[in-house]
Amino acid sequence: MTLGEAKKILNEFIPKYYYSDSVEPLVRDLLMYILDISKIEYLCLTSNYILTNDELLKFEDVIKQLKDEKPIQYILGEVDFLDFKFQVNENVLIPRPETEQLVLLAKKILDSDSYVPNTIVDIGTGSGCIAIAMKKLFPKSNVFGIDISKAAIDLAQNNAHKYELNVEFYQLDILKDDFNLFNYDVLISNPPYVLEYEKNEMNDNVTRWEPHLALFVPNDDPIIFYKKLITNFFENRMSKFAFFEINPLSYNLLVDFLNSYSLFSYSFFNDYKGEIRYLVIKK
Ligand SMILES: C[S@@+](CC[C@H](N)C(=O)[O-])C[C@H]1O[C@@H](n2cnc3c(N)ncnc32)[C@H](O)[C@@H]1O
Repeated sequence: MTLGEAKKILNEFIPKYYYSDSVEPLVRDLLMYILDISKIEYLCLTSNYILTNDELLKFEDVIKQLKDEKPIQYILGEVDFLDFKFQVNENVLIPRPETEQLVLLAKKILDSDSYVPNTIVDIGTGSGCIAIAMKKLFPKSNVFGIDISKAAIDLAQNNAHKYELNVEFYQLDILKDDFNLFNYDVLISNPPYVLEYEKNEMNDNVTRWEPHLALFVPNDDPIIFYKKLITNFFENRMSKFAFFEINPLSYNLLVDFLNSYSLFSYSFFNDYKGEIRYLVIKK
């Protein structure tokens, strides 16, 4: 099979929901992965390049995974996040652009207050994307990432090592375990927030492949993680700022809960699609 033929087949198999205008960059990324080459090496290849037997096997394996609706990021084993390329696998959520925006929002707000965090804690760290990006932006701060999943912690550690950033990761269940030992002043979190009943409206490639532990909360307690984290933030004498990614559907419940703590000043912010997506609390 030639490279030109491989391109044509990939074009047909990449689902439309992965791209808005051009499928080209995705075809290129998959072919770079299949041929195990850099972007420059890829650009130097002509369409009549003939795939070796090993490359052909890898190509067939990629097609099989695409047919099985496996997310492209899991096939490639990596994802772009801000200036990073983080490893991902089926044990962690694929980081979303909304979460890149959460990190940038935190940076903007802290900078506008000329506030340099002493200790940042990222709850539900997954691939470690938020914690690692925060460490890069605030190199003098101590940064901790917490997750219930051991597999996620292992992956997050690899991602931090790759960029030689000193972030410490701990396996804890934040709904049960005590995390007061992290004397944080800045809390940041993208906790599970998708309601069980939203499952039906989601693409199969998400519900079949991404970890449900990272996605879903019970319909009868949609803000379970926020209640726990906000209470902890309130009780922690050192805490100053909390930054959360939220489900727009939980906005009213969050407002009611926050109003029970009259000492807080809080604000909501929209994401790049215009949806209410972030909650920022300042003590
Ligand atoms: C929405 S994902 C966020 C992952 C990553 N921070 C990101 O933004 O891409 C939520 C994360 O919370 C973790 N998690 C779920 N329940 C938890 C619990 N009880 N304690 C700690 N972490 C939990 C999941 O394993 C998952 O990695």
